[in-house]
Order: sequence, then structure tokens, then C-alpha cells
Amino acid sequence: MSALFTPFQLKDVTLRNRIAIPPMCQYSAVDGFTNEWHWAHYAGMARGGAGLVIVEATGVSPEGRITPGCTGLWSDEHISGMARIAASIKAAGAVPGIQIGHAGRKASANKPWEGDDHIAADDPRGWDTLAPSAIASGGGLPKVPKAMTLDDIARVKADFVSAARRALEAGFEWLELHFAHGYLAQSFFSAYSNQRTDQYGGSAENRGRFLLETLAAVREVWPTHLPLTARFGVIEYDGQDEQTLTESIELVRKMHAAGLDMLNVSVNFVIADTQIPWGTPAFLAPVAERVRREAGLPVASSWSMDDPHTAQRLIADQQLDLVMIGRAHLANPHYAYALAQILKQDRADWLLPAPYAHWLSRYNGPGKVSA
Ligand SMILES: Cc1cc2nc3c(=O)[nH]c(=O)nc-3n(C[C@H](O)[C@H](O)[C@H](O)COP(=O)(O)O)c2cc1C
Repeated sequence: MSALFTPFQLKDVTLRNRIAIPPMCQYSAVDGFTNEWHWAHYAGMARGGAGLVIVEATGVSPEGRITPGCTGLWSDEHISGMARIAASIKAAGAVPGIQIGHAGRKASANKPWEGDDHIAADDPRGWDTLAPSAIASGGGLPKVPKAMTLDDIARVKADFVSAARRALEAGFEWLELHFAHGYLAQSFFSAYSNQRTDQYGGSAENRGRFLLETLAAVREVWPTHLPLTARFGVIEYDGQDEQTLTESIELVRKMHAAGLDMLNVSVNFVIADTQIPWGTPAFLAPVAERVRREAGLPVASSWSMDDPHTAQRLIADQQLDLVMIGRAHLANPHYAYALAQILKQDRADWLLPAPYAHWLSRYNGPGKVSA
């Protein structure tokens, strides 16, 4: 069996293979509520064979959503829709995961296909944003956030805890805290966006405090036998990468000690003027491997890792424990099955549910003669 298709166990959860579908916002919710679109989308992808399906960035509060179309878990009424999604993922043989987060100063934005920029100040669909300091993200996100008071910080941490509890109640077995991509937690850790002078700003230790405290508080309600993970940017590609990596890995070590089971290694995306090597396939893999080695915990990562032989090599060479494959699954929800066919698994069809597998085991593909 190729390395990509070996099972992966974390705590009491076993994934059927090393392919994970990362969180991908659908921007299709209303007031945080999921609907038929989400259900069909997640069920369809889970049927395609991946080991883990992580539901999109879900706001821990209304103001923590990226856009008005983002899902939420800030009230008990959100649980039943999410429970239906978690159950459909599980019924297809994948482990149901969810990412919860707060978008901070990047919140109150239009959907990507409606501009991806901040909702205009006079548009009632928008809302006031929060951040460690009153510094705007810039570019298309000019809104100046409110600098959070200590009460705001305590409230948002409590919102993470409540959302985690609801995710558990909905049946999710894998929780990912969104500490990446320039959103609230990442913006606490970055000196570009955090210029506080209290215990949450200044030194790397202080800038990491919000992340560590949030993680520790969530760990208290998220069962010890289930994986608690985080997505965190460890590199900005701004020319100061060694310092950012060193500081980030130190924080990851502390998070691991505080109960983090795995890191989904990503990019900071705090500032716009960066040199991200988009043209290099799997450019984050060496970075993730370094985090794995130096922080001593399992890692996942994504961004252009979807080439079959690349994905296989990243696992076989032990650079990553899980390969996250996003857009290829939007193009083909059965992409894990396609990977198995390309990598010539003995019976690729075992990845699919019986109502598909039975027929596909004797089908050679479009335009080819089949028995
Ligand atoms: C439509 C879309 C929505 C996304 N939403 C999220 C999200 O909710 N949370 C997150 O951490 N990353 C999000 N991302 C980033 C993906 O998780 C992933 O890192 C990215 O697509 C790169 O992987 P890929 O090259 O396999 O597509 C999103 C990406 C896409 C394309």
C-alpha cells in the first residue's frame, strides 16, 4: 500500500488514509446557518475517499465571521444543521472535523466573488471589527478595527470555548482552531498588527498569550481522547522568515505542551507585501517538516500539494503526517479515489461507498470498454 493510503491515528481517532480536505469557506450561509448547499457539498466530498473532511472557518461570534455568508456556531440553534453535516461526513467513512475562528480585522468582508474587500462603511450588512490594535489590514480591507480591551479578549476566548462545546455536541471528532491567515489569533502573534503595550503585546511570549490561553481554555472542554489541532501561519515571506519561524516554533512547542495534538502549518497572510513562492509546488512542505522536527508534533499542510506523486512523497518521506488537498476536491469531489487510481492501489474502488464501488470496480472510465 502506498504511504498516502496508510491509516493515521491521532488520539482515539483513526483516519482511513493521509488525505485531508482542508477547511474551505462556501460563503453560502445566512446568519451563520448552514443549508442544503453545505450538506450536499460536504457529504459529496466525504464520499470521495479522503480520511478527514474539515468544515469551513466557522465564526465563534457574529463579528468573527469573514463575510455575512460564513457559517457560525455562536448559538445553540446552529448545532442541528452542523450535526447533519457531521453525520453525513461520518456516514461516508471520513472523520468529521471543523475549523472555528474569529476573523478579527479581516471580518466584515464581501464574498470573494463580490469583491473580497471590506463591506462599505454605509452598508448595513457590515459590522465593526476587533483586533489587538487599531491598525487596518490595508489594501481592500481598509476598515480600522477597535483595539480589544481585556474584557473583549476574555469574551472572545469564551466564545471559542462555547463554539468548541457546540462542535462537540454536533458530532465533530476533530477540532481545528483557526490561528492563521491574518485573522484574529494570527494578528495577535504578528508584530505588524499587534502593537499593544500590555501583557498581550510586545515580546513574542506576550504576543502568543492570546493563542495559548484560547487553546488551553478550549482543551478544557474538548475531550482529551479527540484531536485538538490548530492552523497557524509560521512564515510571512517578508524577508524576516528565520526570526518568524523561530518565534513561531517556540510558540508551537508551548501549544503542544498545553494540549495541541497537531499543527496545520500555513502562511501568516498578515501583510500584503510578501514574496510567497506560489509557483513552487508544495512550497510549504520543508517549512512544515521543520515544524514537525523542531516542535515534535504531527503536522499537516496544504497549498499545491495535490499532484499524486508529490502527495505520496510528502508522506513517504515523513515531511507531513497528512496532506491537505483543497481545490482539487472542488474540481473533483472524488479526488482521493482518483489519487488511488493513479498511484495504482490494488482496489481503488474500496475508497468509495458500495453503491458506487460495486460498479466502478468493473468500469474502466469514460470512452473505454468495460465489462
Ligand atoms: C474556496 C476556498 C475557501 C477557503 N476557506 C478556508 C477556510 O475556511 N479556512 C482556511 O484555513 N483556509 C481556507 N482556504 C484555504 C484552503 O484551506 C487551502 O489551504 C488552499 O485551498 C490551498 O490548498 P490547495 O492548493 O490544495 O487548494 C480556502 C480556500 C479556498 C479555495
